[in-house]
Amino acid sequence: MDRLVVEGGVKLKGEVRISGAKNAVLPILAATLLTDEPCVISGVPELCDVMTMLRILKSLGKIAEFHNGVVTVTSGRHANFVADYKLVSTMRASFCVLGPLLAKFKKAKVSLPGGCVIGVRPVDLHLKGLKALGADISIESGYVMAKAARLRGNNMYLGGVYGSSVLGTDNVMMAATLAHGRTIIENAACEPEVADLADFLNKMGARITGQGTPIIEIQGVKHLRGAEHTIIPDRIEAATFMVAAMITGGDITIKNVCPQHLGAIIDKIEESGAVLARTDGTLRIRPKRRLKPVNVTTLPYPGFPTDMQAQMMSLMAVTPGISVITEKIYPDRFMHVAELNRMGARIQREGPHAIVEGVKLLSGAPVMASDLRASASLLLAGLVAKGKTTISRIYHLDRGYEDIEQKMSALGARVWREKE
Ligand code: UD1
Repeated sequence: MDRLVVEGGVKLKGEVRISGAKNAVLPILAATLLTDEPCVISGVPELCDVMTMLRILKSLGKIAEFHNGVVTVTSGRHANFVADYKLVSTMRASFCVLGPLLAKFKKAKVSLPGGCVIGVRPVDLHLKGLKALGADISIESGYVMAKAARLRGNNMYLGGVYGSSVLGTDNVMMAATLAHGRTIIENAACEPEVADLADFLNKMGARITGQGTPIIEIQGVKHLRGAEHTIIPDRIEAATFMVAAMITGGDITIKNVCPQHLGAIIDKIEESGAVLARTDGTLRIRPKRRLKPVNVTTLPYPGFPTDMQAQMMSLMAVTPGISVITEKIYPDRFMHVAELNRMGARIQREGPHAIVEGVKLLSGAPVMASDLRASASLLLAGLVAKGKTTISRIYHLDRGYEDIEQKMSALGARVWREKE
């Protein structure tokens, strides 16, 4: 296992290019199951999660090849409709092969993904939507068994206790593309990655409108064809580099970014003292002399993303004053609090809130990554800490950030990888 070593104290300066969005590419790869024709996806980041999805596609009978950021998916000889526990349990996004398999093969057997460190993570909304389309669903030995001679369009409300579901919307939207008649999903997730999936499906011949809004309408079609698509830039990676500029007092120009996907983040980061300059496809960010504490509440898009909560907490940990961070999507997503406190942060957790009292200085320490975004928050804290921070279990970071230490190093960071 690798670990990451960071020596803090360098102001990050220069340009960085953002990769394609992990949360867009994973369901888009799953969507290739809806056709027998070839699909070509560009702007694909080289991430462990992407490689896992390619392995799943192969296990389902596809031929999937990755070369220089381009994935080509074609059909093999033997299609399969069983997604195995070993693959699905390593990555929750793999559960979104269920909708496409059911629509294409009229039956599917997909392992339940199980919980993970950030919370329980149920799939009831996925199943509710597929049942509304007429699927007969049962759970046997940890697998979802789904079948439907013909899926039929329907109206449904897909909101849960914590609001809309990103992958739930993806799963049901994909299944509905080949259903008979019209489907309306109310309280659909509005995330840009869901809209990117809908755009890809439309290129395949689907008839989807309303993507990016809480009401998505899908007019079922008989057949989907192959398509080419380029993945949107990763807004969470872009926002992580925004925090890197702020936390180190640097000056970073972020390329291949969609500022319109970053509204809530830009709002909060400007409130904390960022100076931003936007030009077409780039965003330059540097901090004013003095940073201010800000209160942040995570919400479904267009609210502040839960996937940026940990990184924002690192910034607040070194911002003088008190800030309150409230987690409304995954109330237990606070594994990073104890690790940041090991570096000298003063953060107290109270239920779904973290009360952060900014300190002048963090000090480098051995810390442990617990999940993808928590790892990013520790890396950011390490960039500003005095001395050396060693982050173990770094495989979490590799699931979602392409070439992270190369990109950070190119901006001047002293960061490298070691064998544990
Ligand atoms: C996606 C993202 C993940 C992000 C999350 C929330 C991908 C690959 N992953 O995960 O990075 O953190 O959105 O923005 O896109 N819920 C239910 N029932 C369900 C499904 C979800 O109650 O059937 C709950 C969840 O426990 C959570 C909330 O709804 O509290 C939102 O989860 P959801 O949007 O489904 O997250 P994912 O799609 O799994």
